[in-house]
Amino acid sequence: MGNPYDEAFERSINDPDGFWGEAAEEVAWTKRWDKVLDSSNPPFYRWFVGGELNTCYNALDRHVEGGRADQPALIYDSPVTDTIKTYTYAELRDEVAKFAGVLRSLGVEKGDRVLIYMPMIPEAAIAMLATVRLGAVHSVVFGGFAAKELATRINDAKPKVIVSASCGIEVKRVIAYKPLLDEAIDISSSKPEKCVIFQRPMETASLKEGRDVEWATVMTDAQPAECVPVAATDPCYILYTSGTTGQPKGVVRDTGGHVVALNWTMKAVYNVDAGDVYWAASDVGWVVGHSYIVYAPLFRGCTTILFEGKPVGTPDAGVFWRVISQHKVKCMFTAPTAFRAIKQADPAGELIGGYDLSNFKALFLAGERLDPDTLKWAQSKLGVPVIDHWWQTETGWAICANCIGIHQFPVKEGSPTKPAPGWNLKVLDPETKESVKAGEIGALVVKLPLPPGTLPTLWNADQRYIESYMDEFPGHYKTADAGFIDEEGYVFVMTRTDDIINVAGHRLSTGAMEEVLADHPDVAECAVLGVDDELKGQVPVGFMVLNAGVDRPQQEIISEAIQMVRDRIGPVASFKKATVVKRLPKTRSGKILRGTIQKIADNKEYNTPATIDDPAILGEMEEALLNIGLAGARKK
Ligand code: COA
Ligand code: AMP
Repeated sequence: MGNPYDEAFERSINDPDGFWGEAAEEVAWTKRWDKVLDSSNPPFYRWFVGGELNTCYNALDRHVEGGRADQPALIYDSPVTDTIKTYTYAELRDEVAKFAGVLRSLGVEKGDRVLIYMPMIPEAAIAMLATVRLGAVHSVVFGGFAAKELATRINDAKPKVIVSASCGIEVKRVIAYKPLLDEAIDISSSKPEKCVIFQRPMETASLKEGRDVEWATVMTDAQPAECVPVAATDPCYILYTSGTTGQPKGVVRDTGGHVVALNWTMKAVYNVDAGDVYWAASDVGWVVGHSYIVYAPLFRGCTTILFEGKPVGTPDAGVFWRVISQHKVKCMFTAPTAFRAIKQADPAGELIGGYDLSNFKALFLAGERLDPDTLKWAQSKLGVPVIDHWWQTETGWAICANCIGIHQFPVKEGSPTKPAPGWNLKVLDPETKESVKAGEIGALVVKLPLPPGTLPTLWNADQRYIESYMDEFPGHYKTADAGFIDEEGYVFVMTRTDDIINVAGHRLSTGAMEEVLADHPDVAECAVLGVDDELKGQVPVGFMVLNAGVDRPQQEIISEAIQMVRDRIGPVASFKKATVVKRLPKTRSGKILRGTIQKIADNKEYNTPATIDDPAILGEMEEALLNIGLAGARKK
């Protein structure tokens, strides 16, 4: 036993009941649990069995009753609308209770689903909290997805009510949301009974009679609803994330484990406590937004910031420093890509100089690999610890982190430090399933059970849960990331082992994009790969082989294909580059050599694979990549 981290970690693994039972004492229960961990039906582990509680009570009412009624709970800071609005805990509780009353009047009850398709406005958080106040289950869909993606989620979650807004704002562009919602409902087989639409001043959505109601109207005489306790093991929300096909995975979050674990992480991981100001610059449509814009800071009694803007352009690369200084932010969380954008716009960090950042104590980054340049730039410009931590939609909170609330380790470039307590992380050889030696790369897996607050299953898809995460390494959760652990126990996360790519911190499936391209009538075969990008980390690039006899201009087909991905998946895919090739490099058994194409695109050294069908194809690929501005350095 060396330090408090070692002690906490050992206890979390060897005595999970004691460790998490103690953490559970810090939150409010209407009925105490009978058992902390139920391991009777692996791999379906259950936390706090027999316990009952309400998520919204733990986020709001508990603090109002406990003396924080007048403390700011949520600060909405929107440079795109020039608005700053603060809700105290009492005000937020009252708004949420009223909107819960609205949902109830529209027929929403415990266990029903409410789908939320909203921009970054306080009403998004209010809708989430109101849903869980009733013991109902929300599913938030990110605004940058297209109607078809929204429809897929509507079909799977089958919401009784959908909550949306007339528009979002992307820097200076107004993006109408309602036409996308209408189209999604038109093409989905499951229809919501009602839609509540928040009208924003920049765009008025037309309403469908009998189905749509306006937020402001229904709130006028809404009756506040009380918190409805649910079982700790009942679902709190479903969040869809990219899988390896066009069918996203509905990650389920349970109620008890979620409240307990997230409340605990605020202090243990981020060293933030009740009364502190915490800011996650993400979007409520992503897991970071769920966990660290809405739930964890409120569970802990902090002030959370809901920021509607971008790191650059709203109005400039100094906006993060303005927000930190103006609201006295203690701890901030965002994705490395946001810092790369700021660094590009203001390399010398001159805009930082004008702001008082004396309250700022730590910057946390996640969502993609933290490149050493960005780490060093942030460290030198901000003078606070810059902490990489690794997690996934599935896990809901950090698998690995420098848990500065327990013990602060020296930072190692490229490493999110060590497994957080609760995470029995192993590196296994994919062939033998045996642990590999320190420093050797392998599959990053977590010995079951996963800690509380993670995914107990996929929505209505227990079998897919087993197949996706549990089958390949029996007794372990497969993260689908590969990496290594060094001699000192530091973890390095290197790459995904599946077709998921990370574009500006957004998780996307290249398989889903291939499904779209394959649907183009002129495309015989295709591949989509993530290639290195200075700003976004990775961007997708499409390679298409056309059907024999197609003699239309290639550029026309490429433009159509790009538009198809935008229309079917959404602008968030950032699919802007594609090319036509005569053939794709394959092994003799017909497998596309993705790794080799990727290396060519990223100007990395590659060996001609021994199994390649025809080595001449690699030269053709190099030409094709050069034509779209990739692989340039190699040719020079
Ligand atoms: N609604 C509608 N459209 C959206 C959207 C939303 N909520 N979010 C993004 N989009 C659109 C953008 O307008 C853009 O469209 P365009 O192709 O017409 O320009 C496209 O989706 C891609 O968006 P994005 O990936 O955000 O790229 P960007 O070039 O607009 O901005 C960054 C780049 C780095 C500034 C931006 O990605 C960013 O701030 N990232 C922060 C990290 C983050 O939030 N990560 C989430 C997990 S922590
Ligand atoms: P998401 O589910 O969108 O949060 O994406 C999860 C994936 O993002 C992980 O499986 C990793 O591939 C990647 N990721 C997240 N955080 C990190 C990190 N700190 N370092 C490296 N990769 C990361």
